[in-house]
Amino acid sequence: MGIDYKQEIERLKQALDVTVVAHYYQRDEVFEMGDIVGDSLELAKKSREVDSAWIVFCGVGFMGQSVKILAPHKRVLMPKIACCAMARMIDAVYFDDSVKYMEAHGVPKEAILPITYINSDAAVKAKVGEMGGLVCTSSNAFKIIEKGLESGKKILFVPDRCLGQNFANSMGLKSCVIGEGECDPKEADIICFNGFCSVHQYFTLEDIAFYRERYPDIKIAVHPECDPAIVDVADFSGSTSQLIKYITELDPEQKVAVGTEYNLVNRLRPSNTYVLSSTKPECPTMNETTLEDLYLVLKSIEDGAPINEVLVDEHIAYHASLALERMMEGS
Ligand code: 13P
Ligand code: SF4
Repeated sequence: MGIDYKQEIERLKQALDVTVVAHYYQRDEVFEMGDIVGDSLELAKKSREVDSAWIVFCGVGFMGQSVKILAPHKRVLMPKIACCAMARMIDAVYFDDSVKYMEAHGVPKEAILPITYINSDAAVKAKVGEMGGLVCTSSNAFKIIEKGLESGKKILFVPDRCLGQNFANSMGLKSCVIGEGECDPKEADIICFNGFCSVHQYFTLEDIAFYRERYPDIKIAVHPECDPAIVDVADFSGSTSQLIKYITELDPEQKVAVGTEYNLVNRLRPSNTYVLSSTKPECPTMNETTLEDLYLVLKSIEDGAPINEVLVDEHIAYHASLALERMMEGS
């Protein structure tokens, strides 16, 4: 007989001083094991407040790193140290290059305020922290950008060009993307790095046209990691928790097509909810974590030989924590 992972996970959760944390994009069977579930902002906030000595974080690398930075005394383990594809698009060198680009186009470093989406490595957050900048998530980007603008500086937004442009559009600000067309930092309020989420690029104008033609009264709800052309014509755009609230509060008869990760959409509502794509928009790295991985990481704590521990260089953690704490204060 093989191991009953679910039963063993429940036993280990009882036996150990551990909190299992799971992002909404996790596979259902892993998500169901979470003591705390939420979107990236909720998880960063709640994880640092729990009493347990150990946190087992089911999500992607930057999420576990953020918890370790915000709560350094906790031991953070991840069943899979899976890396968000967007976070991998920028590192400290690319960040420095973006600052140099702005300097070369007449904006001195002192006149730049960097904001990084939480979907980035700790080394990028540290660079942002050192320059007096902030972290944001899709839940609080509006507030954080507003706060950033109070400095009177140009905002360098990394790494998601879609999020940067979408919030600039909703706030009536001018934006441009480095490396895309003419991007003159002197002419824009928000200068975006050219990164993106591969999963949220699945949703197209053709998909929207398909659903609108089939169901003329349908609502289209999307995550702001979608292309600005999609967000422009959607009925609603919001972070994971904002999408959940919007969709679950709709009249049960109201049809809605949702442009975000498949696992979340699939468990949102029993009927009248559609995935805004002809393909299955699963996040490959979020899907890497299995029940077996979760079991193995919990068992490693019981055995006294913890695996997959999240560790962050002290210097990087210090500067990254400045950027993360500025977000926490402002959201
Ligand atoms: P949330 O902040 O909405 O949880 O988004 C995280 C993410 O990776 C979306 O793709
Ligand atoms: Fe990263 Fe996109 Fe996956 Fe979110 S859905 S974790 S942004 S690759």
